[in-house]
Order: sequence, then structure tokens, then C-alpha cells
Amino acid sequence: MKILVTGAFGYLGSSLVLYLLKKNYKVVALDIMNFGLPSIFYKNKKNLEIVQGDIGDIDLIKKLLKKVDKFIHLAGIVGEEACKKNIPQSKKTNYLDIKKIVKTLNNQNLSHLIYVSTCSNYGLNSKNKFLNEDSVLKPLSIYAKQKVSIEKYIIKNYKKNYTILRLGTLCGLSPRMRFDLLINEICRNIALNHNIDLYSPSSWRPYLTIDDAVISLEKIIKANKRLTKNKIFNIVGENLKKSDLIERVSKVLKKRIKFKEKKVSSDIRDYKVSGRKFIKMFGKMKYGKINPAIIEVYNSVKNGYFYDSYSKKHTAINEK
Ligand SMILES: NC(=O)c1ccc[n+]([C@@H]2O[C@H](COP(=O)([O-])OP(=O)(O)OC[C@H]3O[C@@H](n4cnc5c(N)ncnc54)[C@H](O)[C@@H]3O)[C@@H](O)[C@H]2O)c1
Repeated sequence: MKILVTGAFGYLGSSLVLYLLKKNYKVVALDIMNFGLPSIFYKNKKNLEIVQGDIGDIDLIKKLLKKVDKFIHLAGIVGEEACKKNIPQSKKTNYLDIKKIVKTLNNQNLSHLIYVSTCSNYGLNSKNKFLNEDSVLKPLSIYAKQKVSIEKYIIKNYKKNYTILRLGTLCGLSPRMRFDLLINEICRNIALNHNIDLYSPSSWRPYLTIDDAVISLEKIIKANKRLTKNKIFNIVGENLKKSDLIERVSKVLKKRIKFKEKKVSSDIRDYKVSGRKFIKMFGKMKYGKINPAIIEVYNSVKNGYFYDSYSKKHTAINEK
């Protein structure tokens, strides 16, 4: 089976591509390379075709779609900070260009579109309730609003075979590392003895290790069409209050950890998300808990694996 992955050299994409190659899939990897090509891909890899290009180049997309059976769309301007930095660009990449691609797909022989979305779409919701795929979406940020708009567009306009996956906030090591994701950021700061600033410590968030994310994506690729056709799944390892997250990190690393509460934040997200629909259909997550991600990120920073873990290149903001 041959799979087109866009955003293939981002945080999630680079881990996913390595995993798919390990499982003997053929991969066409498209990325504009906002953050460069991770060094692990410098050497030719069997079954991997690397394409540097823009998802807005519809002729390129049409050419690549002819070669593949499945299409996993990850490319984008990711997170609120990155979107705010260039709102027109984020609208183009996260909404308008995907719309164009979806229109094109209706005339292609692609067997499956997998669109990776986010649990941020749920935004702010009743604290004691686990939100499921049918819950009302209340996106708060520009980023989540763009994700919700394109989800709606796909659902309305692409009936052939799509699957939408709403992922929790990721954590863990990747060949293209991000330290602007909460758990990775906390583990880095502890490893470097730096302060931890937390806003809204009592707010809930769903989390997912990057290893569970790539395993889940492969489950979707392999699944019988009957189970995944035109369906939405939340993919979540565990939900934690931010203050409980600090306690967990403290327990896993066997360290006393203090944090300072940041008073002002524009991010008022607070939500618990149920991943039961996916787990019922495809079985338990391999890790579920975030503990292994905590250990690997902490150890890698502590052991000096990163030249400068505070560099902008380890965020989702493109400085080019
Ligand atoms: N990281 C998370 O916690 C998380 C959680 C839920 C969902 N997601 C989703 O997963 C996907 C990947 O996120 P990530 O964390 O890997 O982000 P990332 O910023 O590391 O990766 C995005 C990739 O897309 C590429 N890209 C940007 N514009 C492009 C364009 N016009 N054409 C081709 N490539 C382009 C970038 O070069 C980058 O490599 C996104 O769709 C995001 O919404 C991520």
C-alpha cells in the first residue's frame, strides 16, 4: 500500500513516516520544510519518496494523488501562536488549500482520506462531562476554528471515504522536536532546572503520546472500510488537570516540582475528551498514560541531546 503524507517532516509527520516505513508501507512524503528535513531522513530510505512542495500547489497534489491509495493530511500552520503570527497564511493553508484538495479528490481514485484534526475543537465545555464525537464543538482559537471549518467542509463535500481523527495534545520525542507542547515544555524546564509557569492549573486537557498517535493512525489505515468510512474518532490517552499533570511528572521523575501560576492568559480552554469510541473499536492504546513520554523527553534534554531546546525551530512558529 502506498500512502501520501502531507506535513510529513513535522513533529507528528516525521514520527509517523518512520513508523510506516518500519511497517513496510510505501510513503510519498510531502512537506514545504518550514522546519527543514530532520537528519534521520538525509540518507535515502527504501520505500520513501521525499517531495518538497506546498499543499497549495494543486497540480503537484493531483500528480501525487495518482500514485497513492491513501492520503493522511497533517500539513498546516499548527497552534494558535503560529496562526496569529500570519492569519492570512494560516487561513490559506489550514482551510482554503484543503478545500481545493477536497474538491480535487472527488475526481480521483483515492481510496481513503484521513484528516488529522484536534481535540481543541471542543474548546470550553462542562467540566464534569467527558465530551464525545457528537458533543457540540466550541472552538475558541483561530486555529481550532479553521480546523472545525474544514472538518465541516469535508463532511459535507467528500462522501467517498474519509476519516477524521481528533487528537489530544501530543507529547514525547520526535525527529522534528517541539518543546512548545505543554508536557514536552514542562519536562525540558525540569531537566534544565528552569521555572515552570502554568496558567489555569485547574483546567482539564486530553493528552496522547506521539507513539500512541502513530500506532492509532496505522490502525485506521489497516482497518476494514466498514469501521472507518465517514467516521470521526477522538484519539486520547488520558485526561488530566494541569495541576495533576505536574504531580504526575513529579511522581514519574521522582522529583519535587514547583510551579508558578500565571495569572493572565488568552487561552481559556478547559475540556475532558472521551477516546472510548476508538478504543472500543480498535483496542486499548499501547501506552495510554503519558509516563513514557515524560521520561524520554526529560532524559533527552538532561543528556544534552538538543543543542538549544529553546530555539524557535523547536516550536510550531515558522521563522523563515
Ligand atoms: N502536535 C499536537 O499536539 C497536535 C495535536 C492534535 C492535532 N495535531 C495536528 O497534527 C498535524 C501535525 O502537527 P505537528 O505538531 O506535527 O505540527 P508541525 O508544525 O510540527 O508540522 C506541520 C508540518 O506541516 C508543514 N507545512 C506547513 N505548511 C505547509 C504547506 N503549505 N505545504 C506543505 N507542508 C506544509 C510544515 O513544514 C511542518 O513540517 C496538524 O494538522 C495538527 O493540527 C497536532
